[in-house]
Amino acid sequence: MKQRVFSGARPTGRQHIGNYIGAIENYVKLQEKYNCVYCIVDIHALTTLESTSELQQNIFEMTLDWLAAGIDPKKSIVFVQSHVPEVTELFTFLGMVTPLGWLLRVPTFKEKARMQPQNVNYGLVGYPVLMAADIMLYKTDLVPVGEDQLPHLEMTREIVRRFNFLFGDTFPEPKAKLTNYPMVLGLNGAQKMGKSYNNHIELAATPAETLEKIKTAVTDPARQRRNDKGHPDVCNIFSLHKFFNVDRVQEIEVECKAAGIGCVDCKKLLADGINRALHGFRERRIALAKDPDHIYDILSDGAGRAQAIAKETIMEVKTKMGLIRHA
Ligand code: TRP
Repeated sequence: MKQRVFSGARPTGRQHIGNYIGAIENYVKLQEKYNCVYCIVDIHALTTLESTSELQQNIFEMTLDWLAAGIDPKKSIVFVQSHVPEVTELFTFLGMVTPLGWLLRVPTFKEKARMQPQNVNYGLVGYPVLMAADIMLYKTDLVPVGEDQLPHLEMTREIVRRFNFLFGDTFPEPKAKLTNYPMVLGLNGAQKMGKSYNNHIELAATPAETLEKIKTAVTDPARQRRNDKGHPDVCNIFSLHKFFNVDRVQEIEVECKAAGIGCVDCKKLLADGINRALHGFRERRIALAKDPDHIYDILSDGAGRAQAIAKETIMEVKTKMGLIRHA
């Protein structure tokens, strides 16, 4: 039997190259070796949203990106979290075995509470429990996540151990599967690439938009003039060449160090590399976007398949927790 992989991502709308390098590319690869379940976690999104007016659009755009990138609904289950309401049931049950003290110590909770002091809602404290419910509902073995999610995953493992101790062996202890890539810095070179910093390049951007965006990027801070020699090792643009210009990266390094090319040339080369690498993706995405019904069919089929697994887990959990009357 293949091991099960589960990962969730919040519906942030159009995905960017940081999401691709950090997560999506890995999701696609894992499909070959594992039974994968990929979930758009709309309920988690509600813990921090001020408005839900863009939620549906964001789910749709993100699904397009996932499918165009190669997440294959024939191999994997792709669905929206709230379409399988069993997760909220498990969330409630797990809430009864999770000490509040554990949750109040989670670093992301403290940080979110600081960032939105006017909205420290109950769901925010329960965020890791809902994530544990996602993972446990499908009896997940492996969870591909970024390093920032490790405390959450550790919490899931503790909840699993506690549940198994109290009610008998039920869930496997899920392991993190970290991506090999370090986080992708944004074009301003200051923070992680992200929509909220507007330092990102959307996968779905046109070639012209890609070039425009890259023109705004910060390059080698030690290079003032065109004729100065460059320092690729400290240049964020150069770090992106490693992904998108694999076949030319050495040549670019040599030329940069010798001042053979300037930062403007280098940015054009990067835009070319990204546009070439994403050409197929962009064509597929445009084709998929023409038939929204097909996208919604895929999500509904995914929810159905996820729910079949979820129902079995819920039955088992209710039985073990003593909620079912014995015949
Ligand atoms: N907390 C994750 C994030 O913010 C999203 C998430 C929700 C998740 N449920 C999950 C990730 C289950 C992995 C497994 O990125």
